[in-house]
Amino acid sequence: MTTPTACRMCRGTVIEVLDLGPQPSANAFLAPGSADLEMVYRLAAGICESCTLLQLIDDTPPDLRYSDTYRYEASGSAGARRHFAQVAERLLATELTGADPFIVEIGCNDGVLLDHFARAGVRHLGVEPSKGVAELAMAKGVNVTTEFFGTSTAVDIRERFGRADVVFGANTICSITDIADLMRGVDTLLSDDGVFVFEEPYADTIVRKRAFDQIYDEHVFYFSVRSVQEMAHRFGFELVDAEQIQQHGGEIRYTLARPGTRTLSPMVGMLLFREAEAGLADPVALRAWAADVQNTRTRLVALLENIRAEGHRVVGYGAPAKATTMTNFCGIGPDLLPFICDSTPGKQGRLTPGSHIPVRPRDAFAGDYPQYALLFAWNHAAEIMAKEQEFSEQGGKWIVYVPGVRVI
Ligand code: TYD
Ligand code: ZN
Repeated sequence: MTTPTACRMCRGTVIEVLDLGPQPSANAFLAPGSADLEMVYRLAAGICESCTLLQLIDDTPPDLRYSDTYRYEASGSAGARRHFAQVAERLLATELTGADPFIVEIGCNDGVLLDHFARAGVRHLGVEPSKGVAELAMAKGVNVTTEFFGTSTAVDIRERFGRADVVFGANTICSITDIADLMRGVDTLLSDDGVFVFEEPYADTIVRKRAFDQIYDEHVFYFSVRSVQEMAHRFGFELVDAEQIQQHGGEIRYTLARPGTRTLSPMVGMLLFREAEAGLADPVALRAWAADVQNTRTRLVALLENIRAEGHRVVGYGAPAKATTMTNFCGIGPDLLPFICDSTPGKQGRLTPGSHIPVRPRDAFAGDYPQYALLFAWNHAAEIMAKEQEFSEQGGKWIVYVPGVRVI
């Protein structure tokens, strides 16, 4: 573990604004009995005085985060599958229209996006260091190289396949600690009129919507339009578009191009204005937000303790990485939450990182409804609540905590 003295992007000074306490790696679900080997680090975020990039203070080693046992599967929800189908359709219609186009995805996970290009016969390559999910992609017929993306990987890909028309990333760019090396890699790989498109958690959602559970070790950076504009400029690109999307509660899809090659979307200016209003670059405003985050913890824990005191049961619903942040920050363990149900086979039968709450299949919830369900996968609320209508019909109540604690 390293404590950076400087911003990972511009070397400016990073001022700490929020401390979420000791935390494990967010997706390191444990086999029962293996808890003693767990690694813990301090989860805290700070803002760069110069480029305004919100980022972690400490980070965990990437080869531990994205090992063969990495459990997250991007195809895990119908919403995500639909989303990437639309992304593919649009890229095919707009950017990949030339002769023999080529797309590279940084962190292709289980191939949820690239599968569409494989089926359309479009040249593509996924760069994915986590073998487990990379194998799922390969099984779909997706081309994958099992390694981390950086400048040397980019040189290698360029030599083997030529330059790319599109370099894409979804929830990946924010996890690459050496962001300067990544940007130089994109510069090496991208064709002169190509685009670098990436969709990432948005600092504005995390701050304004109080979605602080998006903060965990895999997310080293919490981009804003302003900080991405600084980044684009620093590495010889221009931020030409910023679109708001809803996958994990509110992200931005950024499009970077070589300067002067595209028309600038009015969304960039509009979002810059809104970010300034929200005080996203202001340490004082961010400290007020941090105080609010502490209040959420107090309220949620009080609610769970009351439910227990009344002799009622509460079960967790969904064990996303966000649940790791939330349970460890709030000190929620199996005494307050006996189990969490989750549809991911690789998580079932394991314990949540740090908080050691058993993860069970959905049947454990549906077979014996509790009075309350704590919705950690709140970004999939519509999909989950529709599926679990019977729970509500039987009088079951959902507990959500973003943007504040509520029982519905
Ligand atoms: P996701 O939103 O992709 O979150 P993160 O990036 O924070 O890990 O994960 C959603 C989790 O919720 C995932 O573990 C699968 C689970 N889930 C269910 O258990 N049931 C469902 O119906 C849905 C949509 C998700
Ligand atoms: Zn900086």
